[in-house]
Amino acid sequence: MDDTATPRLPRLGEPAPDFTAVTTHGRLGLADFRGSWLILFSHPADFTPVCTTEFIGFSRIAPALAERGVKLLGLSVDSVYSHIAWVRLIEEKFGVKVPFPVIADLDQAVARAYGMIMPGESSTAATRAVFVIDPEGVLRAMIYYPLSTGRNMDEILRLVDGLQATDAHGVATPADWKPGEPVIVPPPATDEEAAARLASGEYDCTDWFFCKKAL
Ligand code: BEZ
Repeated sequence: MDDTATPRLPRLGEPAPDFTAVTTHGRLGLADFRGSWLILFSHPADFTPVCTTEFIGFSRIAPALAERGVKLLGLSVDSVYSHIAWVRLIEEKFGVKVPFPVIADLDQAVARAYGMIMPGESSTAATRAVFVIDPEGVLRAMIYYPLSTGRNMDEILRLVDGLQATDAHGVATPADWKPGEPVIVPPPATDEEAAARLASGEYDCTDWFFCKKAL
């Protein structure tokens, strides 16, 4: 059976699939990012227009991610020479220096481990995937976009902010949440807790299960 036919997807809350790979910054593995947050992302191909806009976007948010303790690592199934030529072109033509390493996944080993190859889209290129991996190496979020649609950099920053708010404060974040806005307090687990919460007036509650607070 063609093993690209059924992509194996990694699972949230489990250790991210391990790898070592050739990159534009030398050989790197998941272990090299231990202790930092990591955004591993794939793009279909070097020297393509949507991917070029995304590389410019990821390069522009790299400082904001670094402030949040997040490193970036790109990937496509192109060669390291192609990656080098493309990032040099991006600097020359768009004035943007790509600061992060890019995996040259010629044998699709990393792409397959992360389920980046979606044969319905392409069996020879990775789709547009984003994996947020925490400092312990646990996969915390995944986003998959089709070949046709460039990703939203603000959403990637927002996702990191939400995950880090959850870790720091034990809260959840509502739809369209942005830092500075109220967060969701986890619902009470018992009837007694529900009554106590409403009586306490501690949170801004619309109902017993729907309470917000400022951070
Ligand atoms: C692009 O980046 O422009 C692109 C890459 C693969 C398929 C379609 C578009």
